[in-house]
Amino acid sequence: MRRTPRRPHLEIFPDARAAAGRLADRIVGALAENPGLVLGLPTGRTPVAFYHELASRVEHGAADLSGATTFNLDEFVGIPANHPGSFRSFMNLHLFGRVNLRPERIHFLDGVADDTEEECARYERAIAAAGGIDVQILGLGTNGHIGFNEPAPALQARTHHVTLEPETRRDNAALFGGDPAAVPAEALSMGIATILQARQIVLIATGAAKASIIERLLREPVTTELPGSFLQLHPDVEIVLDEAAAAGLRAS
Ligand code: GLP
Repeated sequence: MRRTPRRPHLEIFPDARAAAGRLADRIVGALAENPGLVLGLPTGRTPVAFYHELASRVEHGAADLSGATTFNLDEFVGIPANHPGSFRSFMNLHLFGRVNLRPERIHFLDGVADDTEEECARYERAIAAAGGIDVQILGLGTNGHIGFNEPAPALQARTHHVTLEPETRRDNAALFGGDPAAVPAEALSMGIATILQARQIVLIATGAAKASIIERLLREPVTTELPGSFLQLHPDVEIVLDEAAAAGLRAS
């Protein structure tokens, strides 16, 4: 799994299913090399197919997560972990409930912590105590956010409390009965520096809705107004796309 460091390396697949399968194979390979792998995990519609592929491999005995550790990128503020719209519930449904991760090695931000600042500091300490993140998997918001680092004139480097953009609340409405107003307005998220500290990063984006933001992420200068552009600064990033999400890269 050690590869020569290079600036975002692109892999383009015919469809979303093939992209998810490739990402699952890659993680299975990393687990075979390092059973104690520390993974950073995203939510969103995009990784659902990947989680399904990974869980299927575990169910068939082709992968083992019993020694692995996970840290999810972000969580909504103001709803408990067992709320059906929480990212924790999403992960339980799509991955944790199907695989042999040890519960004490699953790490999540607590969206109802009394002191969110301390909760964010605790998360940074937990990542450090685990030895840092080996492979950070990312999705991409249609506005270019990674985790919940929204476009802004300035970005917080470390895990922090964020206010969500209307576009992001719309994008996450499916978790809340389709109603953007029901989506919490705030969240806790790993910061850009927390993400960039991972030894390897793999971003997955599929579907035509991501074509324009993927093109901008790769072609525009690094800017806080497009948080995903910071991936250009990391020496070992792979971007896994389907043809639809790669369409803008082929156009010119
Ligand atoms: C949420 C998550 C992001 C994720 C994004 C994209 O906002 N916080 O980590 O990348 O959704 O979602 P989708 O894959 O549904 O487009």
